[in-house]
Amino acid sequence: MTKLLGIAMLSVGAVAAFDTSNFFTSQGNLKNAAIAIASHVKACSDLYDAAIISMAAISPLQFPSGPLFSDADAQLLNSTFVPVTQQIILSKLDNLQAGKAFFESVNNAPLFRTSFCHWVGTLAQENIAFLDSLIVSSPAAYQPLWEQLRTEAITQYNIWLTEDGFNCGGNLL
Ligand SMILES: *[C@@H]1O[C@H](CO)[C@@H](O)[C@H](O)[C@H]1NC(C)=O
Repeated sequence: MTKLLGIAMLSVGAVAAFDTSNFFTSQGNLKNAAIAIASHVKACSDLYDAAIISMAAISPLQFPSGPLFSDADAQLLNSTFVPVTQQIILSKLDNLQAGKAFFESVNNAPLFRTSFCHWVGTLAQENIAFLDSLIVSSPAAYQPLWEQLRTEAITQYNIWLTEDGFNCGGNLL
């Protein structure tokens, strides 16, 4: 009986050693993915920091009581920057979501999961803060579309930050 138990434990030990090496390989892969994605999220976050600081510097006294952008500027933003930037960020994050296995690996590794919740959660908050500032700074004609983009962004970030994406334990926005 004791001998049988010993063999059983030995075989469990052997299996565990095999799994450990696979585990390290998977952690190496996950780490590489984390670095690549973190640098993308950080780049977006840095750009938002810069954009928010630039906007705040335009005219702190007027802000946020009335439009800061002329109609021509708002038109340029509307046709060139705002929808395109939102689309780029959303589609990059969407690419992540295509890799279901990636989310599962992250969610099973608490340290990576904590980092992703922090990075993507911060990006989501910066994105919303940026759009909020933009909306109050713009002529009324441009506000509805940007409010719609804001609503869509909140929905999409919530998906990434809840059960269909990173398991961040709830709604961060
Ligand atoms: C803003 O751009 C959208 C297309 O992305 C367009 O449908 C809308 O009319 C534009 N808004 C204004 C006020 O020009």
